[in-house]
Amino acid sequence: MVDACVRPEGAAVNDGDGTLEAKAQGRQFGPLGTALVIIPTYNEAENIKKIVGRVRKAVPEAHVLIADDNSPDGTGKLADELAAEDENVRVMHRKGKEGLGAAYLAGFRWGLEHDYGVLVEMDADGSHQPEELPRLLTALKSADLVLGSRWVPGGRVVNWPKSREFISRGGSLYSRLALDLPLRDITGGYRAFRAETLKGLGLEEVASQGYCFQVDLARRAVKAGYHVVEVPITFVERELGDSKMSKDILVEALWRVTAWGAGDRVAKLKGKDKDKDK
Ligand code: GDD
Ligand code: MN
Repeated sequence: MVDACVRPEGAAVNDGDGTLEAKAQGRQFGPLGTALVIIPTYNEAENIKKIVGRVRKAVPEAHVLIADDNSPDGTGKLADELAAEDENVRVMHRKGKEGLGAAYLAGFRWGLEHDYGVLVEMDADGSHQPEELPRLLTALKSADLVLGSRWVPGGRVVNWPKSREFISRGGSLYSRLALDLPLRDITGGYRAFRAETLKGLGLEEVASQGYCFQVDLARRAVKAGYHVVEVPITFVERELGDSKMSKDILVEALWRVTAWGAGDRVAKLKGKDKDKDK
């Protein structure tokens, strides 16, 4: 059975301390521990100070890790200034642009090594509103992984061009069907993982570089039987700077999702053949 579900607006946060939900699942979820908000950056000089300030204000107990790929616009230097002012802000300087997936993997590794209980993914450009993070963390009290979701009731996008919405909805639908995932927003990048969940995803085998990294992790979590919950979010298109979405990123997503889907089907058929032979 797949232990994942789509939830109507607000439902994921109505269970107080999480015990009701945990009982319903027949599971006990441990305490969350300190959260690390990982913010990958490539040319986000106009956004980095604002987003870090918003995170620190919205969830003061959470720490921040900026994973910068040596941005030519000096984002890394601005991040260092933030870290110098605030001991709960750290910067990981990476040697060059290697994609969102690689930056998150490095950030997760650092967070796990430093014993954080929760690892959060968040874009630097304000699309993922830090003020919504408390809702994601509340839902995580009774889940293994929480996805901020644009495509469940109550979720929405603001100022997104129709073309981007079409690609995103299409990408989620294709992933949902090709990979048989009971999720609505599979490509989104606003997420909260329990550390234990990340440890169970086989991160060392993840090769996805671009945005299909998000599909890869969602697929791994469902396959591993984790309890994945979608919480509605309002995704606000960036006002400053540029999206790094490119044709290469789309092509990588398309071929990887197709290959994973084909692999799953072959594995299922092989399983059936084995059952027949018994
Ligand atoms: N370190 C690093 N290296 N950061 C990167 C790289 C990279 O190569 N590429 C992008 N980023 C950072 C950006 O600086 C930003 O903070 C975040 O990753 C998301 O990049 P955007 O370029 O703003 O993404 P988007 O708005 O087009 O896409 C959003 O929607 C996608 C589809 O739903 C994101 O939320 C994606 O995560 C999501 O998959
Ligand atoms: Mn963006």
